[in-house]
Amino acid sequence: MEPILTVDNLKTAFLTSSGKVQAVRGVSFSLNKGEIVGIVGESGSGKSVTSMSILRLLPDTARIDPESSILFEGRDLSRLPKKQLRDIRGQKIAMIFQDPMSSLNPLIPVGNQVEEMIKIHHRELSGEELRKRALALFQDVRIPEPEKRFAQYPHQFSGGMRQRVMIAMALANRPDLLIADEPTTALDVTIQDQILKQLRALQREWNTAIIFITHDLGVVAELCQRVLVMYGGLIMEESPIDDLFERPRHPYTLGLLRSIPALNQDKGARLDSIPGSPPDMTNPPAGCPFAPRCPYARQICARELPPYAAVGEGHRSMCWLLQPDAPAEGNPFREEEAR
Ligand SMILES: Nc1ncnc2c1ncn2[C@@H]1O[C@H](COP(=O)(O)OP(=O)(O)OP(=O)(O)O)[C@@H](O)[C@H]1O
Ligand code: SF4
Ligand SMILES: [Mg+2]
Repeated sequence: MEPILTVDNLKTAFLTSSGKVQAVRGVSFSLNKGEIVGIVGESGSGKSVTSMSILRLLPDTARIDPESSILFEGRDLSRLPKKQLRDIRGQKIAMIFQDPMSSLNPLIPVGNQVEEMIKIHHRELSGEELRKRALALFQDVRIPEPEKRFAQYPHQFSGGMRQRVMIAMALANRPDLLIADEPTTALDVTIQDQILKQLRALQREWNTAIIFITHDLGVVAELCQRVLVMYGGLIMEESPIDDLFERPRHPYTLGLLRSIPALNQDKGARLDSIPGSPPDMTNPPAGCPFAPRCPYARQICARELPPYAAVGEGHRSMCWLLQPDAPAEGNPFREEEAR
């Protein structure tokens, strides 16, 4: 299979008054044409910064390490001049976010906003053709009564309908890659299901590759073929979807799986959220970022970052427990507690 996107050793930091925030610290992965990959992980793990780095939608304080590369259809986006990057944005790569209201102009009818999106890359189209295409997109994303809805303003739409408008705009130019950053987090479950259905249809009909970012492993299980589990600015585990649920090979993934309600069949069972809090990214730990919260941590975990171990077809995990030669002396964090 041909990769459409190959991210290699992505490191993104922010220069702030309280120091350098090392948000993404060496992320590598690739994505095939038409593939849906999920990125999961707790708040602050670097999911959004990873995806924003791909399109360089970052504030001026952000720095992408010169050794990182982001190959998209053969071009390195991390080095591409701004003008060429703008041509790729919206046309070949589109993005949808959690809060559609912030990306829609409240003063312009939604239909016109969709038309504008098409126009950016199709200046040649007449007003009538633009309207036709925009209406077709409304139908594609199953907005009922598209003609009537076309002339309405964002505030006249519900959250779910607004998200559909955002998807219609993202699809306006049939992108090869869609990055969806928690697009369903603010929506109720029924609407969420409909949006997921939409995305699946898009992938099937147009072979669009999708990066789907979420906190919700249940959604990932439904939608994605592969998943990246992030923590502390790094990919802790990467796996085909079934293998992740059947054979999770990282203590952090285990912790996440235990915290999903749908998978905890026993209704009476109390869900375990992972105790402790994520690392301070201005001063990330030298070793495994999960070590202070990991029940299996050893001395070496606090000192050194583990290498990846290949644990199956397309499945890798960054944990010292998978390194047969790693020294096994006790858990430094537990000893600290005992003192
Ligand atoms: N503009 C910024 N300036 C400084 N630090 C930032 C900035 N944006 C993000 N960060 C930091 O980068 C780290 C990664 O943030 P990111 O937004 O990628 O997390 P996330 O995994 O998307 O979390 P969430 O699930 O809450 O969306 C966090 O420590 C965050 O505080
Ligand atoms: S490397 Fe050590 S601390 Fe990190 S997840 Fe594995 S056992 Fe836990
Ligand atoms: Mg985020």
